[in-house]
Amino acid sequence: MLDVGSGTGFMIKFLLDADPEVVYACDLSQKMLGIIAEKYPNESRLQLMQADARHLPMADKTVDAVLCNGVYPHFESKPVALSELHRVTTPGGRLVISHFGGRHFVNSIHANSSDPVIRQDLIEPASEVAALLVTVGYEVTVCADEPDLFIVAGVKK
Ligand SMILES: C[S@@+](CC[C@H](N)C(=O)[O-])C[C@H]1O[C@@H](n2cnc3c(N)ncnc32)[C@H](O)[C@@H]1O
Repeated sequence: MLDVGSGTGFMIKFLLDADPEVVYACDLSQKMLGIIAEKYPNESRLQLMQADARHLPMADKTVDAVLCNGVYPHFESKPVALSELHRVTTPGGRLVISHFGGRHFVNSIHANSSDPVIRQDLIEPASEVAALLVTVGYEVTVCADEPDLFIVAGVKK
């Protein structure tokens, strides 16, 4: 499994609970990866990876599941990042793009950020994200854009 934009590693526990062979925790920030390393000092199934989702140091078809929770709006080029995630995923593997809240909630937090870069990091309607997934080679299996829920998921064809 690949957790993209792991941050402090909130989702890692849930991924490990699914009993995968390996969870790759990927983040741009070495500081975030350091926090995860402190949380999981003895977890042999966890591999930390400082990388940009657009350029992953992984071979083609390496992971069966990719999670992007709370990171998708931050991708500088979404088509490039999604193509890269598609490249490292095994055929039949899954991609999930999710947020802890609905799109308007997430966008209002970002739009009001004190950081001008974050203010630009807005998420499109789920239907547009789903259309992009199709463009890069996924079959869309979930497309939920509700007041308290944002999930777009797909399977690599
Ligand atoms: C809001 S946090 C989400 C953390 C975590 N996924 C969660 O659910 O709690 C976003 C994280 O994504 C990372 N990030 C942003 N753009 C990225 C990119 N292009 N590639 C990898 N990580 C990225 C940031 O450094 C940050 O730690």
